[in-house]
Amino acid sequence: MQTILTGVRANEEPTIGNFLGAYLPMINLSHEHANDSQINMFVPDLHSFTTPIDHSKFYAQIIKGIKYYMAAGLDVDNPNVHIYRQSRVPAHCELAWILDCFTPFGEASRMTQFKEKSEEHKESVTVGLFNYPVLMAADILLYDAKYVPLGEDQFQHLELARNIAIRMNNKFDQELFTLPASEAEQVKFMHLEKGLRIRSLTDPTKKMSKSSTNEKSKISLSDDPKVAAKKIMSATTDSEGVIRFDMVNQPGIGNLMAIEALFTHRDLQDVISDYAGQTRYGDLKTKVADTVSHFLSDFQEKVANISDGDVERVLEQGEAYANEVADKKLHTVQKALGLRK
Ligand code: TYM
Repeated sequence: MQTILTGVRANEEPTIGNFLGAYLPMINLSHEHANDSQINMFVPDLHSFTTPIDHSKFYAQIIKGIKYYMAAGLDVDNPNVHIYRQSRVPAHCELAWILDCFTPFGEASRMTQFKEKSEEHKESVTVGLFNYPVLMAADILLYDAKYVPLGEDQFQHLELARNIAIRMNNKFDQELFTLPASEAEQVKFMHLEKGLRIRSLTDPTKKMSKSSTNEKSKISLSDDPKVAAKKIMSATTDSEGVIRFDMVNQPGIGNLMAIEALFTHRDLQDVISDYAGQTRYGDLKTKVADTVSHFLSDFQEKVANISDGDVERVLEQGEAYANEVADKKLHTVQKALGLRK
């Protein structure tokens, strides 16, 4: 059975960018494939402190992250659906160390996210931040995951995981790891034309980022729906004066149309047609504000109805499964390396 796997870090409140870029494609794929695939949605909690966080709130944030997966629509009663914490499956770290030793320093140094984040956190660039994509490769390769629903910003890391798998398979002359599908295949599998990149509401040339300190730039999954609606109403647009889908000259308008289409499960082309020739940006904003605030009210109600006990039960099953699969793979790798007979 093939495996479809993804994770969202629990360091800060996820945004609607995370939701539309990763949760939604994963949930859609889980509905489509839970009978022919293993569906692994885990919390990469060890990835969460590659940049500084507030550790006093961290545990609660992890549990909330799991409630989010459940509220988003993962069918946890299906025996092929697994939710687990990375930190509770020690094989992730063990494999990451092994992969480190087969990853050229130069190749890891080319990761754009490392370059950007190390600029942002100049005083606190850690080895962990540099090593982040190799741990991510271990998260994927341990489970032989072929499909990894991700937003556009993470495809370079997936490519690194593919390169590591190819290198190790060649070196040890066996299919140690299933090769994750290429970016083009991943996108097709998600029924998309390209990886998603929801833009910042205050600077639509940049992506919406959960670590941004500008609250107006992002909508978090825990935002008050009324506050979220106000953020949409004051989103930065342009002075062209006509509603068109043109991500180069009108990225703010294009972003709002993309958000509307994704949340209402409509074709982007249909949303674009609805506004053809229209000039009142306020009408589009009002529609999107309404869509987003309704989504948030409904989602937050679902989260509130999930108890800590529900989370514990799901994790118990998920972590038992994950440890079994991951240990088996680690043993195979240890054998190939000569660590085990
Ligand atoms: P994280 O938590 O930074 O991001 C989680 C997911 O959200 C996507 N994303 C977006 N998609 C569209 N528009 C945006 N503005 C936007 N912002 C974020 C990201 O592309 C990502 O898919 N490294 C991963 C976590 C991870 C992981 C893994 C994922 C660790 N190990 C193994 C898959 C498989 C990350 O970026 O998390």
